Amino acid sequence: MSHACKLAAGNWKMNGLRADLEEARALAKAYPKPDCGVLLCPPATLISAMAEALSGSAVMVGGQDCHASAAGAHTGDISARMLADSGARQVILGHSERRADHGETSTLVAAKAMAAHEAGLVSIICVGETESERDAGQTLEVVLGQLAESLPAGATAANTVVAYEPVWAIGTGRTPTLDQIAQVHDALRAQLPDKAISLLYGGSVKPGNAAEIFAIGNVDGALVGGASLKAADFGAIIAALEAA
Ligand code: 13P
Repeated sequence: MSHACKLAAGNWKMNGLRADLEEARALAKAYPKPDCGVLLCPPATLISAMAEALSGSAVMVGGQDCHASAAGAHTGDISARMLADSGARQVILGHSERRADHGETSTLVAAKAMAAHEAGLVSIICVGETESERDAGQTLEVVLGQLAESLPAGATAANTVVAYEPVWAIGTGRTPTLDQIAQVHDALRAQLPDKAISLLYGGSVKPGNAAEIFAIGNVDGALVGGASLKAADFGAIIAALEAA
């Protein structure tokens, strides 16, 4: 563990209806005073209801994307200010699913992060290599390149978190070796403009592998997909981070 703040962040992706707020409530009840930051990023439709359900608790709520503009004619898009107004404090940006499904470039991610910071949100900026890039020995070049272009001017530990998510490890049950995670996180840390920025690992983090991942020096927490949907699973990951 570095000296950066520890954070367990859950990304619900395109999952979750109002009934699933029960999981968020159960999590908040189980962890009234967590020894690390705890964040849930539900779909935009649930942000306000989840923020209400979690008000007064230690669990924070975040968005999964925002537009780079503050307002305007962008049908279907959501601004950072709207997220903040709904109760979000953070926003995931440049997730590999958005880079792949919506053609988001690192330059666009940096513009979105600027918008997020202007709205008072913390940006969680995602980077990660594909399997073919790893096989070609390009992992460090790819993730460091994405980091350089995705971090906006003025990124500090107060407004930015970075998540390393190997694309091939997302939702697959496969993870890099601990040495491979350590190598990428060490390289990311070296390139950060503010060394206190938290570095999360994401990609098939589960209760069973969380502790060993959190024992890696430059891993400050996790960005969790599938295992964040259930309070029991996410709770076990939070417990592992608290103990790290
Ligand atoms: P999984 O934990 O389901 O592999 O997803 C990781 C992820 O993409 C979090 O943003």
